[in-house]
Amino acid sequence: MELRSNQWYAGDDRNAYIHRAWMRRGVPDDAFTGRPQIAIANTASDLTPCNAHLTTVAQSVKNGILEAGGIPLELPVVSLGETQVRPTAMLWRNMAAMATEEMLRANPIDGVVLLGGCDKTIPALLMAAASVDIPAVVVPGGPMLTGTFRGVALGCGTDVWRLSEEVRGGTLSEADFLRSESSMIRSAGHCNTMGTASTMALVAEALGTIVPGVAGTPAPDARLLEAAQLTGRLAVELVAQGRRPSTFLTEGSFHNAIVALAAIGGSTNAVVHLLAIAGRLGIELTIDDFDRIGSSVPLLVNLQPAGTHLMEDFHRAGGLLAVLREVRDLLDPDALTITGRPLVDYLEVAPSWDADVISARSTPFQRDAGIAVLRGNLAPGGALIKPAAASPHLLKHRGPALVFDSIEDFHARIDDPDLDVTADSVLVLRGCGPMGYPGMPEVANMPLPQKLLEQGVRDMVRICDGRMSGTAYGTVVLHVTPEAAAGGPLGLIRTGDWISLDVRGRRIDVELTPEELGARGPADAMVEAFADPRRGWERLYVDHVMQADTGADLDFLRGASGSAVSRESH
Ligand code: FES
Repeated sequence: MELRSNQWYAGDDRNAYIHRAWMRRGVPDDAFTGRPQIAIANTASDLTPCNAHLTTVAQSVKNGILEAGGIPLELPVVSLGETQVRPTAMLWRNMAAMATEEMLRANPIDGVVLLGGCDKTIPALLMAAASVDIPAVVVPGGPMLTGTFRGVALGCGTDVWRLSEEVRGGTLSEADFLRSESSMIRSAGHCNTMGTASTMALVAEALGTIVPGVAGTPAPDARLLEAAQLTGRLAVELVAQGRRPSTFLTEGSFHNAIVALAAIGGSTNAVVHLLAIAGRLGIELTIDDFDRIGSSVPLLVNLQPAGTHLMEDFHRAGGLLAVLREVRDLLDPDALTITGRPLVDYLEVAPSWDADVISARSTPFQRDAGIAVLRGNLAPGGALIKPAAASPHLLKHRGPALVFDSIEDFHARIDDPDLDVTADSVLVLRGCGPMGYPGMPEVANMPLPQKLLEQGVRDMVRICDGRMSGTAYGTVVLHVTPEAAAGGPLGLIRTGDWISLDVRGRRIDVELTPEELGARGPADAMVEAFADPRRGWERLYVDHVMQADTGADLDFLRGASGSAVSRESH
């Protein structure tokens, strides 16, 4: 087949001369004739510690590409360190996707290996690849090894939340809390809980964009490098076969991703990411599909934050394929993977080696565990809750709202001893949606009031138009759409209004009539937040970001532009 890179390198004219001459780097003539040019889109960065080891992984990918006759070309792309970038990595996901998309299109490349790990990196890379639509395959960076503190395993993220709540509740000293810090991150790799990074790697594999059996391999495991080398070889094959994202990603692929998301008890963040990736491919996926397909799927994985184990245990127990084998009948048998074979083909021999980590379908850790989509007069466009991470006694609840207009307002008041709050109160945090923050930060799992923690309260109903960390837990209604800043009813309620939550009935309501709600204006803080002039990316983002129910992508980035570049550079 005609290589895309021939548009740059083939021929005897001045432009082809220029493109070749600056790329010779000592390579022979045949590097430009008939050999696929494979980019390695690398999110390695010292400021993304979860991905820093991807420079080593890239070397193995390069070896595989060369072995198969391709030319490897490392392409550093925008990287997002979840714990470092402010105000939230999600503000930059679409920028990372847009920049990667443009660089993949602008350069003389025929295919790409995508190296990601930390939360936003795999979603951004897949969004980019879907819009350029050149052959693309992911190598996930893998989770870190399990760290321990005083003989007890530490789940990164989850145990930070748990230990800091213990300090606030007076059951752990601050000195002991700080002592655990150097034990939290034991090795290279991303968070080792079933947080967003683990979830997105596993979901990307279920989607078909990773070689089956690779996702979840720990970052320091030699088998990751082996998989990287084999994936490098595969990338060359993909070009020869013309296997682009649009040729094998279908509604069925997303169906399988949603089944996997539910069975692993994955992060709610996967919802916005999958919606955004589907939007790039022109596949009609809605939040209701997550409830329809996933909510009756049993939870088969006992990993933090919903359970006890960590990703190293998950990989040892058989990984994603062992999980999917148990729900094989729920999968789309025709959905293909990047290898050209259906996902279900890989499930014949995929046992669970440890039933305490990956259970049989007949003895699940929880029945009906997928993400539930709620609607009501508080969330006409929908809201999510992850029942597996919630307290069963709060899944049907009625209580008075305690409203916070921003995360700063929340921090300023939540531990006030005079705060009028009980365990029945419903904590409401608004101004945290895609437009309002901006960037939809992970703040929905609000810490509980100190005085209630001291009384032994460990969960309350919380409602927010933002997201929550995949490593977090609690009865949290999140991604409320439309967000308060976009004029949603969440911006109209007041402290003391009664809120009712009914997860089984899929309802979230404020006990006000349409007339009462209609008579109210938005809170002053919502209006003030938008008085700020913005520039640069923030301005572009706020002007174009869509709501959470469609994946919080920018409106002009939906769909694909393909790989064609119509004009020369000289
Ligand atoms: Fe990178 Fe958790 S901070 S995956």
